[in-house]
Amino acid sequence: MEELQISKRLIMTPGPVSVDPRVSQAMSNTILGQFDYEFVDIMNKTMSLIRESFLTHNQWSFPIDGTSRAGLEAVIASIVKPGDVVLVPIIGRFGYLFTELVTRAGGIVHNIQKPMGEVFEQQEIIDALDEVKPKVLAIVHGETSTGRLQPIDQLGKACRERGIFSVVDAVATYLGTVIPVDDWELDAVIGGAQKCLAVPSGITPITFNDRFSEEINKRKRVELGITTNEDNEDDTFIRSNYLDLTQLQDYWSSKRLNHHTEATAMLYGLYTGLRLAIEEGVHARAERHEYHHEGLKRALEALGLSIFGDADNEMKMVICVNIPEGIDDAQFRNGLLHNFGVEIAASFGELTGKIWRIGLMGYVVNKQNLLSFLSIFSVYLQQQGVKGLDPAKAMQTLIDYYND
Ligand SMILES: Cc1ncc(COP(=O)(O)O)c(C=O)c1O
Repeated sequence: MEELQISKRLIMTPGPVSVDPRVSQAMSNTILGQFDYEFVDIMNKTMSLIRESFLTHNQWSFPIDGTSRAGLEAVIASIVKPGDVVLVPIIGRFGYLFTELVTRAGGIVHNIQKPMGEVFEQQEIIDALDEVKPKVLAIVHGETSTGRLQPIDQLGKACRERGIFSVVDAVATYLGTVIPVDDWELDAVIGGAQKCLAVPSGITPITFNDRFSEEINKRKRVELGITTNEDNEDDTFIRSNYLDLTQLQDYWSSKRLNHHTEATAMLYGLYTGLRLAIEEGVHARAERHEYHHEGLKRALEALGLSIFGDADNEMKMVICVNIPEGIDDAQFRNGLLHNFGVEIAASFGELTGKIWRIGLMGYVVNKQNLLSFLSIFSVYLQQQGVKGLDPAKAMQTLIDYYND
């Protein structure tokens, strides 16, 4: 078999995205044993970095090994037992993912829904909490399928006042916007690796507070083979072994009770990605995403494209553009990739074939990349026969934006 040949790419999708070479380099370090004092030190430092990234004091801030949905599933599988009622607002595909995970955990889902491209007023969600009286509110912060940012800053407090647990999918917004977990009184929040944090997919930072921890520990079961006389369980124990947050707490605390074998190289990558993000600053990173998002959006409008969705609630890490009439979604994206090594994303469900999602996430987000992207994208689109496009005006708009 031949050696791997990986071509150079400019990834402008909502993940996975290119990573800083320092992250890749960190991942190629020698493997340490999982109880080696040096590795334990990296585990503890990674927990501190995760706390800083979420602006939280939560002790329980650690990664789940697996892609972001493993983080979502760990939280849902641990808090939702059969028969528990969960309110899941849906503004796009990932609200359905929460619905799916709750259903598989045996929970009873109540959905409220907005058309794709819109978000909820927070009061609408609070009214639904009063009506449905769920145990858990599970909500998506950045709905990548539609590019919408669901406001959530009032929801943690509203849940707490009602004895409800708030669970937030911040997979796409994590480290691309500021998520002050403690100030917003959120109980459990799941971040993402391969999006604005820009490390490879396969590890997922999460955080949860003591209130959440107390609740899930009512369902604790220590795995057979490492139980002691002190361990007991009731019959509502958490069904998943791998994604059982209570066992993971024992692993990610001074007990270091053996669970899985930590993904060594992934942790090196996560540690390094987080270190770089914290060095940049959580707020500065959010400002960088917002700044470049605004420039590219203006340029795409100057090109002659229309932007999809309610402009007041756009995510600053995705731009959704309406696909011009007469253009075949997949054919265009494939052409862009094969001819120029540039990747953009399609959407899901009813938006398939209607919008493209251009991701601005993490390491890729800088002036040089966006100018390169815009020049290739706009000229190639014009070559496909779309009428009324003005690539020169688009480029001038972005150059002027950066020169201001
Ligand atoms: C908002 C959101 N939630 C969850 C996921 C699922 O993440 P993963 O594919 O890493 O499991 C994604 C991935 O695109 C996402 O954008």
